Amino acid sequence: MEPLERVKELESQLDELSTIAAGQIYDIIQVLSLLTTTHEKYYEGSHSKFVAQKSVGIARELSLNDEQIFEIETAALLHDIGKIGFPESILSKFASELKPHEYAQYQTHPYIGYKLLNKIPAFENISKIILQHHERLDGSGFPNKLQGKEIIPGAAIIAVTDTFHSMFYRTKKDKTTPAGAQIPNANTASLIEGTQAKFSNAMNYLHFRSGQLFDTRVVSIFTDLIEDERKAIGASSILRIALNKVEPGWIIAEDYNTNYGMLIAAKGEIITPSILKTLLRLAENGEMPMKILVMKP
Ligand SMILES: [Fe+2]
Ligand SMILES: [Fe+2]
Repeated sequence: MEPLERVKELESQLDELSTIAAGQIYDIIQVLSLLTTTHEKYYEGSHSKFVAQKSVGIARELSLNDEQIFEIETAALLHDIGKIGFPESILSKFASELKPHEYAQYQTHPYIGYKLLNKIPAFENISKIILQHHERLDGSGFPNKLQGKEIIPGAAIIAVTDTFHSMFYRTKKDKTTPAGAQIPNANTASLIEGTQAKFSNAMNYLHFRSGQLFDTRVVSIFTDLIEDERKAIGASSILRIALNKVEPGWIIAEDYNTNYGMLIAAKGEIITPSILKTLLRLAENGEMPMKILVMKP
């Protein structure tokens, strides 16, 4: 065989091998992701799938490349894999309800996930995202109390989508019990109200902690992505938005002061056309931010 032909043959064999390897990695991800969903019974819908879908949406908006998007999607599908084997007493509760020893065990799940997946060379970056998904901008997260830019983009994205899903879709109800069994007096109106309140709570939490715990750009992109769901349930929502997009009738959601400390607009104030004019003028003069936090009814 001519050397050139041999090279071509080798090349095509390599191509075939890498296709097989890529296929195997995909299969591994499917199996691991199935395993991860086994402890998701305290959520409405699939927690990992929601986190993956929304995280990919945010990564796209941030113009991350295809490889990074793939890594974020996979990390999101597997972010809680380290919880496998945790007792029901931990899985059934919100983090804030855990006893100190239970919380200590709960905090080990990012590291367990990391150790598990770090053994596979193709999962190196994915496992790092998983390790960091509970880190928070101000260093109050775990396990390594990383701060600001020390947190990699994939982890900063999952921090937001994971927190939202946990606050909005988490239920106290074990899904193996018959539907409605633990809410005997529930009627449709109160269920809708409860859903709207939970949605607003989750979004308000993200916005009030934006810049402190969560990346501001990630929170604002997520707010846009989730807008359809917000409309579908008719919830009001707090959002940070450019002043020229604000409409009269919306409500100011935080205090605004001039550079000299004079109160311009107070939290809870309804925005009238004249207030809106004043705010725009002050923002153009640099007296207040161009984007403000408002409650949209
Ligand atoms: Fe987690
Ligand atoms: Fe999670």
